[in-house]
Amino acid sequence: METNFSVDPKLAERLLFEIESDQMGGWYDLPNTYNVDEIKHIKELARKIQSTSKFLVCIGVGGSYLGHRAVIEALSPKSPTKILYAGNSLSTRELNKVIDEIGDDDFSILVISKSGTTIEPALAFDAFKQKLQKKYGEKDSCSRIFVTTDANHGALHDEAIANHYGSLTIPNDIGGRYSVLSTVGLLPLAVANVNIDKLLEGAKFCRDKMLNTGDLGNSMLVRYAFDRYRLYKKDGCDVEVLASFEPSMLYFNEWWKQLFGESEGKNYQGIFPASVVYTTDLHSMGQYMQQGRRNIFETIIEFADNSGANLAAEKATVYAHRLGGIEVLEIKVPSLDELSLGFLFQFFETACALSAKLMGINPFDQPGVEVYKQKMRELL
Ligand code: PA5
Repeated sequence: METNFSVDPKLAERLLFEIESDQMGGWYDLPNTYNVDEIKHIKELARKIQSTSKFLVCIGVGGSYLGHRAVIEALSPKSPTKILYAGNSLSTRELNKVIDEIGDDDFSILVISKSGTTIEPALAFDAFKQKLQKKYGEKDSCSRIFVTTDANHGALHDEAIANHYGSLTIPNDIGGRYSVLSTVGLLPLAVANVNIDKLLEGAKFCRDKMLNTGDLGNSMLVRYAFDRYRLYKKDGCDVEVLASFEPSMLYFNEWWKQLFGESEGKNYQGIFPASVVYTTDLHSMGQYMQQGRRNIFETIIEFADNSGANLAAEKATVYAHRLGGIEVLEIKVPSLDELSLGFLFQFFETACALSAKLMGINPFDQPGVEVYKQKMRELL
């Protein structure tokens, strides 16, 4: 990509237009185009699950799981139904932990898979379906199985139709890692009593304020994407470390790593996404950040209403790391709540797609992951 590495509003506008018009760009304007009837339906399903189940087992992997877990871990919302997770690994130990936690209590399951063919969720679905059938009988267990999948295709889609499972569809033009604010994330979040309206409001705020075409040169989002590109191409930084001073952001970091890793890591290019949680990791990774190889830059998320001690620690860290020769980018949001998380999801999804476009990479495919999925199916 031809650029002098400073923010170029015209180039940003052209690339954002390409992103929005891409056949996988449905997430870009989602906060403005959401179907109100669908939100109503999601809330009804959530109430139904809450009234019948002490646990909801969310079965899914990658983009079908990390986003909603990030919000639930970050906010610890209170709900009559506790969300448990399965199908994000092939570990029998992990599966058994979930089965043990459910014990004899009432539960339902929600299988989330766009393709409907991913091995990890398919095996977990099998295990929990059997458990449901044993406890409630074959017919009644169907009312405790919920599915979020493709609108028209796949084994999961066909099974949901045949058995009248409660189901939601994933829009064709939204891929896994860009799907947290779609049906994929919203149903489990509504069951967990997260305020999904506020989450979407935060995303809308980002969409409308950060991508106002009259002012792209001053947009924090556009600046972040161009800064990443400059640091990578000009300054030789091929590792980005995402940091925040809130331990409950651990799963948000995991979501962020998947988003950037799977979107940018192609054609033997891309910035390696890593993460830390401070101040904890200042006592481990802090040493490397201060004096290790200088191929790193750091992106810090600041929650403005954080405690005085935490804000002071952040100031000290930024000072120390800059002194150590690290470029630190700062993203400030008011509070650790639904509004800010919705904002951050939309912010990073858009910045990620824009950064990848600057590098000449397609942000929406994942040919490398497909190789593993296909080989695994063959081996099994
Ligand atoms: O971002 C992606 O596309 C992937 O991480 C997928 O979400 C993940 O592989 C799960 O795929 P599926 O939802 O088809 O089961």
